[in-house]
This record gives sequence, structure tokens and C-alpha cells, in this order.
Amino acid sequence: MTLRRLPETLVNRIAAGEVIERPAAAVKELVENALDAGAKQIDVVLRDGGRTFISVADDGQGMSGPEIELALERHATSKLPGDDLVNIATLGFRGEALPSIGAVSRLSLASRVRGGQDGAQAWSLSVEGGRRGALTPAAQAPGTRIEVRDLFFATPARLKFLKTTRTEQGYVLDAMQRLAMAHPRVGFTLFDGTRKLLHLPSTQGALNYTRLARLGAVMARDFAANALPIEAEREGVKLSGYIGLPTLNRGNARHQYLFVNGRPVRDKLLHGAVRGAYHDFLAHDRHALLALFLDLPAEAVDVNVHPAKAEVRFRDPGLIRGLIVGACRHALAEAGHRASSSVAQAALGAFRPGHNPGVAQTWRARAGGVAPRGLAETSLAGQAPLPALAAAPGAAADQAPENLDADYPLGAARAQVHETYVVAQTADGIVIVDQHAAHERLVYEDMKQQMAAQGVTRQALLMPEVVELEPEAAARLSERSEELAALGLVLEAFGPGAVVVREVPALLGDLDVQGLVRDLADELAEIGQSLALKERLQEVCGTLACHGSVRAGRRLNVDEMNALLRQMEATPHSGQCNHGRPTYVELKLADIERLFGRR
Ligand SMILES: Nc1ncnc2c1ncn2[C@@H]1O[C@H](COP(=O)(O)OP(=O)(O)O)[C@@H](O)[C@H]1O
Ligand SMILES: [Mg+2]
Repeated sequence: MTLRRLPETLVNRIAAGEVIERPAAAVKELVENALDAGAKQIDVVLRDGGRTFISVADDGQGMSGPEIELALERHATSKLPGDDLVNIATLGFRGEALPSIGAVSRLSLASRVRGGQDGAQAWSLSVEGGRRGALTPAAQAPGTRIEVRDLFFATPARLKFLKTTRTEQGYVLDAMQRLAMAHPRVGFTLFDGTRKLLHLPSTQGALNYTRLARLGAVMARDFAANALPIEAEREGVKLSGYIGLPTLNRGNARHQYLFVNGRPVRDKLLHGAVRGAYHDFLAHDRHALLALFLDLPAEAVDVNVHPAKAEVRFRDPGLIRGLIVGACRHALAEAGHRASSSVAQAALGAFRPGHNPGVAQTWRARAGGVAPRGLAETSLAGQAPLPALAAAPGAAADQAPENLDADYPLGAARAQVHETYVVAQTADGIVIVDQHAAHERLVYEDMKQQMAAQGVTRQALLMPEVVELEPEAAARLSERSEELAALGLVLEAFGPGAVVVREVPALLGDLDVQGLVRDLADELAEIGQSLALKERLQEVCGTLACHGSVRAGRRLNVDEMNALLRQMEATPHSGQCNHGRPTYVELKLADIERLFGRR
């Protein structure tokens, strides 16, 4: 056996295996260094997804000749003034990135100190597979430029694991976007030789303004217009950032970002907390867009968990989770009936003549034939108002609609079309409400409140109703009768294959008891034995609410329609149904005028 100390080059290659997984990791480390150096502008160029060439140029504080030599040595860093790992305020601190990259590529570094005594002279140094060249004078503006050629040429095994140029490029873009979101005042560009993959000019101004502008530029143009600000603090932990309205959602969770003390991190805690916060508003396969920034004392978080510093460990994960869920829920409740403007944009796209001629024509033809008031009036014919839709005060039909326009964001009801949609006039546009989706949401929110306060108010049926079912389904229902009673539904077994229903939730009004009980039995089969119904409240309430809601196809009179609009305004989360679909769209007059070429 020969026990020996490994040569530094080999040690650095081993370290590089952990720190520099792929070109994107090299770019991330170099951009972090530029940010730590106080750069205002960072420009990155790639070739072949970073495989053959990466260049990162910054206008930060730069390095002197001796500093350059030291920077390329292992565990040399300017970022840990004290000899402990507690107060880490910079992105770097391990002193591993430069020597690691130098060990597995051909690296050249040129730098010139900004301002300082040595400021006049720029120096450069090259490293090839860990072998260092000599320090030589160079031409370079204040700041630093690092070029990395043939990454992993010295570690062919790693080279083999790289994916296609396009995929590697995607990783680089993602890494830069994350850093750019955390540093909105810094300008970033990414070129792949021919195309600009990223162009984010630095923005000046208050942090909130620059941050939202930057988030919008990176995530989606819609985001800035449909984001709710987050601001919360607990036990010295500050949470800020922006979360998207539920109606702005995506099929994956890619656009959910977490930053801890300015460092982009990936943490399962975030996705779990976000799922909790949006649970009521999004279907299982839809995901919100958001970017949250945690600022906490350095001792409350360990950033030294992972060589690439992509993960962190919180001292009190429960506190962080609670803070995120609470702040998001609060912001969503404050948003009230707001639905995302992208909904209206999509609708306008569909209306626009030429976009889909069929749709546009139908719309025009119908619009010509509809007498808005008349339609609403005919719908009155001999129907009692729905119990759950008693007219709100001040929303009477004889009130001048002009006042309604001005005073209420959802406007004055003008018509019901196809017995499904309520059309209302607002101060500066029109609103189209999906009456069923909206009412379902109102009933659901109402039930949740009643549950929280004193339990759902029940109403005895005049005639108890017997519902015939499969024996297993009947058994499932009667086993859960106590939990169902808390939700306002009182039933008991009635022989082997039936239940008898005696009371129903009062706020559901007139409902189809048979259909409701059958759907509930299915719901229970899906939920299974293990979960308490309270934990699946959304699904169960949803099923109940659905049966008690104004069905599509139900005619509403003007009072009922206005009552619906007023209740929506007064109810949190009413802008989306229980599945994250919008309950209404708003079209501004300006947009409508544009449709008709009046502007
Ligand atoms: N772009 C840069 N501008 C100024 N100094 C830099 C730059 N990149 C690296 N350095 C210096 O080189 C040192 C080593 O960098 P690195 O290997 O990434 O380790 P770390 O960032 O963990 O300190 C840094 O601490 C810093 O002093
Ligand atoms: Mg570094």
C-alpha cells in the first residue's frame, strides 16, 4: 500500500466534480463572483452550450496581480473575514470555484482593479488543466473577464455526461435568470454567439419597483400585471416578493422561485408550502407563478449544505413554512374577486376578427339580436328567487344602473345570456360572469366560514328522502355520518342498500338530494378511509356547493344577478372557481373599441 497526499491538481479535479457539474454550474459560480465583486453589468457568452467556450465579463471591483494569483489557489477567498461559517453575506465563501474550473478546463483570467493604487495596470493569468502559467500585463477595463475553453477536457468521463447544446444552454439560462431575479439593479446579457438569449437591462428605482419589473421580464409578461405583493415578518425572518393570482397558472411548478438572503435555492419546503396556500384555488395539476425572498439572520440558516450551494437548511423549517403559507393566503384573500387580466386578454384574442373567424362571427350575430334588458325581464317569469341569492341591499333593480357602474367593480347586471352567463356593465367596460362557477365559489366560501365559526347551519327536509345505493356506498356514507353532520348533511343507514337524508346544509337551498348523495358516495370512495373529511374539505364542500349552486341553464332575474355580483365583490377568492378557472372576465371599453377599429 502506498499512502500519499494527492497532488493539488487532482484534488481540484475531484472538487470540480462536485462544484462544477455542468457548464451552467461554471457560469453560475462566475456570475456569483461578479455579483460579489459589486458588478453593475454582467455579460456572458457561450459557445456549444458552454462546452467549448464560456466568457463572463463584469465591471466589478477587479483584482490586483497578487490577488489574481491567490484567487486561483484552492480555498483562497476574500469573503470570510472572520474564521467561521456563521456570517456569510456573499454568494461565494468556499474558495473552490476558480481553482476547480481551472483544473478541468483552459481558463484565462484578466482583471483590473477599479480605482485603487494598482488601478492603472491590468493583469492576466492562464491555467490549463490545473497547470498555472505566469502573470502577465494585459489590456482590460476596470473589472474582470474570465474565459473558460474546453470545459471538462481534463475529465473526459464528465464530458460524456453532458446533454445536447440546447439542453445545456437551457440550464445556463435558468441559472442566470435566477440570479438576475435576485439582483434587479444589475444588468445581464447572455449570448450564444449568434443569438441574445437573455437581455435584462439594469433598472433603477425603489427595490419593489425594480424587483417586479425584473420578475416580469424573466417569468412572464403577464406576471407583473397579475402579481400580489407579499410582505410578512415573524421572529426576525422577513418574507417579501410577489405571487401570481390563481387564474394565472401553469402546468408545472418551474416558475416558483425561492431566494434566501439573495441566494437562489431549490427547496421542497417551498413547493409544499405553496401547494398548501393555493390548495383551495387550483386543480392538482396546475401551478402558481411566484418569487419569494426570505431574509433571515445568517445564523438561522445553513447555506453550507451543498457544494454548489443550491440547497440550504433552515434552523426552524416550521416557522418558514408557516410564514409562507400565511402570507400567501393573506395576499390571496386581500385580492378579493380579482381575476387575472390574462383571462381578458385570452378572451379578446378569441373575439378578435381574423383570429378565429367562426367565433367572431357568432359573437357579432348574437350581439345584434340581443336586447339586453328584455332578456333579463323575460327570465323573471314566475320563479321564486333562489334562497342563497337573496338580493343584497342597494342592488335593487330599480336603482339607477349608473350608480352601480360607478360604485361596484363588477358593475350592474344588464342581461343573462344562454341562461349561463351574466353580462354586466361597469364604469369602463363589461363583465361576463359564469353564474355556475361564481355561485359554486360563493357557496363554498360561505360553508368554510360557517364551518370555522359554529358548524354549518342545517335545514330539516319536510320529507326525509331515501336514496338507494350500492351496499358499499351506503355503508361508506353511514360510517362517516358524524363528519357529514358537521358539514350540514344528516343521514343514516336505511337497510343494507340505502340511506335516508333528514337534514341538508341550509345555504344550499333547493337541491337534488339524490344526485348529491350519489356524488358524495363517489367522493368518499376516492378519499378512502384514512383521511378525515376535514382534511379534504375542499373536495367535499366542492361537491356540496356544486349541487347547491345556480346551475348553468337556470334563469335569473335582475335582482338575482345583481345579488350575485355584489356577493362576489364581498367574498374573498371569488375571482376563480374551486379549480382555478376564472368565474368572470372583464373587457375594458378601450379594448372593445379596439376590436371594432374605433381606436
Ligand atoms: N469577478 C471577480 N471580481 C473580483 N474578484 C473575484 C472575481 N472572481 C473571483 N474573485 C476573487 O477570487 C476569490 C476566489 O473565488 P472563488 O474561487 O469563486 O471562491 P469564493 O467566491 O468562494 O471566494 C474570491 O474570493 C474573490 O476574492
Ligand atoms: Mg465564488
